[in-house]
Amino acid sequence: MELINLKYQYKQYQAEIDQAIGAVLESGQYVMGQQVRDLEEKLSAYIGVEHCIGVSSGTDALLLALKALNIGPGDEVICVPFTWISPVECVKRLRAKPVLVDIDPETFLMDVDQLQKAITPKTKAIIPVSLYGQMPDFKKIMEMADKHNIAVIEDGAQSFGGEQNGKKSCALTTIGTTSFFPTKPLGCYGDGGAIFTNRSDLAEKMKAIRVHGATERYNHQYIGQNARIDTLQAAVLLAKFPHFEEELKKRFEIGCFFNEKLKDYFIIPKIIPGNTHTFAQYALRSSEREKIIGQLKEKGIPSAIYYPKCIHLQPAYADMRYGKGSFPNAERIVEEVFSIPMHPFLTKDDQNKIISVLKDSLLQKI
Ligand SMILES: Cc1ncc(COP(=O)(O)O)c(C=O)c1O
Repeated sequence: MELINLKYQYKQYQAEIDQAIGAVLESGQYVMGQQVRDLEEKLSAYIGVEHCIGVSSGTDALLLALKALNIGPGDEVICVPFTWISPVECVKRLRAKPVLVDIDPETFLMDVDQLQKAITPKTKAIIPVSLYGQMPDFKKIMEMADKHNIAVIEDGAQSFGGEQNGKKSCALTTIGTTSFFPTKPLGCYGDGGAIFTNRSDLAEKMKAIRVHGATERYNHQYIGQNARIDTLQAAVLLAKFPHFEEELKKRFEIGCFFNEKLKDYFIIPKIIPGNTHTFAQYALRSSEREKIIGQLKEKGIPSAIYYPKCIHLQPAYADMRYGKGSFPNAERIVEEVFSIPMHPFLTKDDQNKIISVLKDSLLQKI
């Protein structure tokens, strides 16, 4: 059993993927080839926004979004202490100040009720993360942000394809970003990402920043970077895309099945009403995590911990001066959370085996 079975997925779509890769190799257009434009067109229509910009990673997507909003020294950006490092890392790279808000312990998402008190006159942006695959309450977040004229960047690296009240992740905020890292719901075969927005001014600027700040060849309007998605990766994504909705459906079914069977034994991932969930990870909580992980391993079931340490307690970010105890929910969850296998090809037998080993593990003495 594997946590995420990418090799099996490749075998399922091999003919289409190999053909798409071969076409790029034949074309000689390895950088910004036609497939990049085709992908952007397809994904902007899918998400339901005006502009999609294919970029080199989910991290660069966040960095370009922040740069487009002119974020720099003296600005504050509200982030969370429990997620992948990228949002806080990007804010720090621009020498702005990350201001952290604790998470809700049931959804693992930014606690919207604590957001208001983190807003100051210096707040320029908020980066809520749609962690594990569902979105926080964007109606509330956008209302608060609009009132203070603050931009919102959704980090939708794990929620691509997920919905809130019928609207797709990356369509509900000023800018939405995602990642096509291989293990993400829609993954390529290396690094890749995308940015979504309805704001034409921001889109034009981010397109330029992606190619060294050039609005046309040899006219560098902004200080940019090289943040293009490879044509090869765009081709892989285009080949996988026709299967994506079916995969999302299967992920959601499996996640709901786990929730139903495990709800009386563990703290399961709560799905917010109005949301779908991509289950990029199926993450659950137990105060007996180490024992359970040991039992899973013994029975040949892999598991992982996303994430074992809070960002404010990472050595590189000590200068943010948030000590231990600053964010009690995040600090408790890093001790309890763990993820079990989740991918669209997980068989019913495997699902049942995981459930029974998890339940049995609670009965084991250490
Ligand atoms: C929540 C979150 N944000 C940002 C990223 C960064 O994406 P990438 O690895 O494509 O830079 C990831 C993925 O690793 C992620 O899970």
